[in-house]
Amino acid sequence: MSFSVSVRQFEAPLPVEMGQTILEAALARDLPYPHGCRSGNCGACKSELISGEVEMSPYSDFALTEAEKNNGLILACRAVPWSDCEVKFLEADETVAHPLRHMQCRVVDLAAMTHDIRRICLEVKSGGPYTFSAGQYASLEFPGLPARDYSMANRPGETTLEFHIRLLPGGAVTPFVSQTLKVGDRVKVIGPYGTSYLREKHSGPIIALAGGSGLAPIKSIVDQALDIGCKQPIHLYLGVRDERDLYLEDYFRERAAAHPNLSFTPVLSEPSSATARRTGFLADIVRQDFDGVDGAKAYLAGPPVMVETAVSALEALGIRKQDCHADAFYTEADKARLSQKVPT
Ligand code: FES
Repeated sequence: MSFSVSVRQFEAPLPVEMGQTILEAALARDLPYPHGCRSGNCGACKSELISGEVEMSPYSDFALTEAEKNNGLILACRAVPWSDCEVKFLEADETVAHPLRHMQCRVVDLAAMTHDIRRICLEVKSGGPYTFSAGQYASLEFPGLPARDYSMANRPGETTLEFHIRLLPGGAVTPFVSQTLKVGDRVKVIGPYGTSYLREKHSGPIIALAGGSGLAPIKSIVDQALDIGCKQPIHLYLGVRDERDLYLEDYFRERAAAHPNLSFTPVLSEPSSATARRTGFLADIVRQDFDGVDGAKAYLAGPPVMVETAVSALEALGIRKQDCHADAFYTEADKARLSQKVPT
């Protein structure tokens, strides 16, 4: 049995099977329903329920507040219809629509960026051409392993795709990437996904906050902004625990030297020895460095706690939540933990 969901932005009604979410049904048909985490944590699939009934599985307050829920908003990735429905997803400013590609790629380069971050570079062998917006991500599937989401670190239009993979203790993909993967191996890539992409028409200041391997999408965003000639101030911060977790420092120092509108600040949250660097959490740094940010947009990527605390700090400065484009990296363990939460 299925229900018919009429999505205002799509021509034909969407059949949704019993127990399936609206987002799952849309993605199964390769429809461009906006989304990010697919697990009720980012808010990118926020939609208006115009008519009908849905049941929502657990989600974070960050993704959908009580007030939004009371105003008839739902998360398509959590919403299972219990009747025929009509919905409308919230439109992003500067909407972009890239075709979803299912590609076979080949590893052309592998490098250790830190003790626990690997860079892998891929060449598209079939299924392209691949277009995306800076800041988006793709699903990567190594042979015999579950698919995982990683952001593109390269700029749109470049022929080699670059990903930064954080090696997680106990992760299913970690042993393979760290010990077995080699140049020449095949990888299945599906994408692009995500709504935390660079708004290229925005001319106000940019605050770009990266935590750890969250630098991947932020690198793509900053590089794209510079290379299309954005002249507004771009404040880039990279937050990591300790000295050994920093990477691409020389790269961004060189970019900042060549582009006076870019500032780059590494920040250590748990330095193991005395340091001349900035220290603390990115949320604290934002409070220290800004007192007004008229017309700014923020791009954030990293661990959920970093993203959520930094967004709160930015909102306190007067940046609207819709101008904070955030990509929180939830591990499979995070997702499992969050799915145990009591529904709000
Ligand atoms: S995709 Fe639905 S909340 Fe992230």
